[in-house]
Amino acid sequence: MTMPMLEMVGIHKRFPGVYALKDVSFTVDKGTVHGVVGENGAGKSTLMRVLAGAFLADEGHVIIGGETIIAPTPEKMLQLGVAVIYQELAQAQHLTVAENIFLGRMPTNRLGMVDWRRANSEATAALEKLGFNIDPMARIDTISVAQRQMVEIAKAIARNARLVVLDEPSAVLGEQELRLLFETIRRLSREEGVSFIYITHRLKELYEICHSVTVLRDGQVIATTPIRQTSTAGLIKQMVGRDLSDIFPKRVPPKSDIRLSVRNLQRAGILRDISFDVRRGEIVGICGLAGSGRTEVLRAIAGADRIDAGEIHVDGKHLRLDGPRKALIHGVGLLPEDRKTEGLFLDQSVAFNITISALRTIRSGVALNARREVQVAERYIRQMKIKTPGPGTRVRNLSGGNQQKCGLARQLNCGAQILLVDEPTRGVDVAAKREIYDLLVDLTASRGSSVLMVSSELPEIIGLCDRIVVMRQGAISAVLEGHGCTEESIMSHAVWH
Ligand SMILES: Nc1ncnc2c1ncn2[C@@H]1O[C@H](COP(=O)(O)OP(=O)(O)OP(=O)(O)O)[C@@H](O)[C@H]1O
Ligand SMILES: [Mg+2]
Repeated sequence: MTMPMLEMVGIHKRFPGVYALKDVSFTVDKGTVHGVVGENGAGKSTLMRVLAGAFLADEGHVIIGGETIIAPTPEKMLQLGVAVIYQELAQAQHLTVAENIFLGRMPTNRLGMVDWRRANSEATAALEKLGFNIDPMARIDTISVAQRQMVEIAKAIARNARLVVLDEPSAVLGEQELRLLFETIRRLSREEGVSFIYITHRLKELYEICHSVTVLRDGQVIATTPIRQTSTAGLIKQMVGRDLSDIFPKRVPPKSDIRLSVRNLQRAGILRDISFDVRRGEIVGICGLAGSGRTEVLRAIAGADRIDAGEIHVDGKHLRLDGPRKALIHGVGLLPEDRKTEGLFLDQSVAFNITISALRTIRSGVALNARREVQVAERYIRQMKIKTPGPGTRVRNLSGGNQQKCGLARQLNCGAQILLVDEPTRGVDVAAKREIYDLLVDLTASRGSSVLMVSSELPEIIGLCDRIVVMRQGAISAVLEGHGCTEESIMSHAVWH
């Protein structure tokens, strides 16, 4: 007999112009892992914010361990053992790992002063218990996103959380880190009876760790099903409301001239002798394990990071790059990986964010043409199915995946001939992924743009790319033809063996 750890009953939540949750009821059993899936903007994160007490629901209530809570507050929910690890990690960047784990309750000595030795040793113990090897004295802003997520989990467990919500954790993790996370989830749920809510856009993962799954669509629960009784195709149909076949557009690799030529890029300890070419109209993928230097290659080409040696040629011209803005003048545009800090102006409108890099497309004389800005934005909102009440909405109020689409729209709108995209579909739902693939393919076909794409999702690399550059420890270990390539062949070049 299973016991509910959590029941959410009849939850409604409205925002200006958006009915985000409509009568959502949802139960999670003790010691189980419960998946939550749905398209961008379906209401997943909003539901979790209600659970955490961060948003007050308009109607409905929450029951935890038999106790009914009408108006959850963050303090109350924390006390009841609920820990939500958000999609956009909200951590104190300037504090250390240990300070984050014990935020607001640092161990003190008899004099009431922070006991650093104890804080660090207890933090180490909390991390080691989960199999994480992270220096407790490191500042949060110096460790990787994956490690930051591990710190958040350790923090939750150190506070005796009984229900841990993970909002798209895999979006920022590499394969090995994901394995570690799954092991941790399995162990904590099985041995300690901790319940998990696991939000993801990668349906395959549900089958690895979840016991049951709830599909949300347009703020409503479509179904909750034991995982064994579901199929990926069935879930997609529930999410999208229709069948979705053939996610990758068909295309023929171009036999054209070289557009971008990268020669012997070198950066001490990071990049070793990187050379490859990208042709006009070509889509080239870069893959490798997290930390293999994929992002650094893109950043070096865009001029965002210094290099020690090497050359970059665009259409035969040697580029001297300092800063992405210069790169853009040469038609090279970078869509960075961490859109929260590097890409978007969260407090500006959707229209502003989409058009900011390409002011000339909306300029009339010296004045910016606000109407034109809105028109350009509306076109992308339509094309990319960005879910927003309108072009004037602040980006902060969009769902994670829709923020992502705004970043991509800006890059597509900036007129770049060479698009450097880092994990372009991270956190984006299946239907929107296909829209993005279509857009990229369309740009190569109609505008002759070239795309250089970093992605951790191998099916996407294989399905879309003409050629695949595989990296290992800062160097290129293979360049493969996209056609006929398999995940196994890529992985065999990505790892040491
Ligand atoms: N603070 C807010 N103000 C206004 N609207 C909001 C706010 N937060 C969320 N929304 C809207 O509520 C809807 C649901 O958003 P939510 O973030 O829950 O989606 P999601 O399912 O988590 O999507 P994703 O997969 O993209 O993260 C969206 O239309 C979003 O724009
Ligand atoms: Mg979300």
